Amino acid sequence: MRLDVAGDGLLEKLGLMTGMVPTPLIHTTFGVGYSRSIVAGTRLGIFEALGDGEREPAEVAAEIGCHPEGTRALMAALVGFGLLERRGGRYRNGKAVKKWLLEGSPQPLKDAVLFLGYCHDLVQNLEDDVRTGAIVRIHDKQHPQAFWDAYMGALAAFARLLGKEVVKRVKVGSPRRMLDVGGGHGIYSAALCERHEGLTADVLDLEPACVAGRRIQEADGTADRVRHVVGDFRTADWGTGYDLVLVFNVLHNATEDESRSLIRKAKAALNPGGRLVISDAKHLGEEGKLDASAGWNELFFFLISGAQAWPEATLREWMTEAGFADLKRTQFLMAPQIALAGTA
Ligand SMILES: C[S@@+](CC[C@H](N)C(=O)[O-])C[C@H]1O[C@@H](n2cnc3c(N)ncnc32)[C@H](O)[C@@H]1O
Repeated sequence: MRLDVAGDGLLEKLGLMTGMVPTPLIHTTFGVGYSRSIVAGTRLGIFEALGDGEREPAEVAAEIGCHPEGTRALMAALVGFGLLERRGGRYRNGKAVKKWLLEGSPQPLKDAVLFLGYCHDLVQNLEDDVRTGAIVRIHDKQHPQAFWDAYMGALAAFARLLGKEVVKRVKVGSPRRMLDVGGGHGIYSAALCERHEGLTADVLDLEPACVAGRRIQEADGTADRVRHVVGDFRTADWGTGYDLVLVFNVLHNATEDESRSLIRKAKAALNPGGRLVISDAKHLGEEGKLDASAGWNELFFFLISGAQAWPEATLREWMTEAGFADLKRTQFLMAPQIALAGTA
């Protein structure tokens, strides 16, 4: 997937076809423009203020407590970027906003946009980080609880979609007790508990992630079966007697030594015959074609954690070394993500 430069009208299309349009300049200007305007429209409440109606910028500005001219300018940018529509000085939300960005949208991704807004701040030091490699890892930094709420909300929205495929396609037997390492929101655990009668889950995560995750589980009415346990998975005792351990989207934030150690800890926490399932972004390897999302993932994981998505062969090697057998791979359809399951 990628963002591309498309021409409006014949002349612009001709300019693009003949290679006269300076595309790097356009990516540089509009890339940040799209991204910052959408995050600002979400943070400031412009989309919510418009809701299903049609309003003038001054009315919106009064409702959200912003400067009238600033609000008008931001709304104009959002029209240009295709998020809002404008007629006779009155503005309304476009289709994509109604589908994804409102509180009651059918597939709400408002938290995901808010979280990406925080991520913009985390990549401000890109050049220094690339020069020095001295990364302060995202999970070791202090953030306001609002960051964790948006972070967990964003991943929960994604997990609600991918969770259906996980439950359907990843074979985990008939577990009674499971441990969701770095499970945060607990949505994957809740989906598995719903699928397997009598299954209960412990979600091991950092304190502010547990606070956000508990709220999500309470709101969903699943907190009785999905229990949050505060701890640093690098140092905490994971306990024993589990039939299933999930390590989902955790290893791309972990160093090689930490990853190997987490896999060994999973083996020790599992009953004989229990299953470990690791899921992460599919690593395309050094020779594979990198599209924009795969390339950005490589840079983004480095900037936030000094780490990377690990190649599948490496994960297999670490699992085998730790004593896991019968490794099974699932390639998900809804995202460029895989799961590797092994038996203890
Ligand atoms: C990318 S999120 C993945 C969340 C969830 N497993 C999923 O797939 O949507 C990484 C999770 O690991 C947790 N985490 C990171 N470092 C941790 C640590 N040292 N101890 C416990 N949890 C940690 C984060 O708080 C976060 O919930």
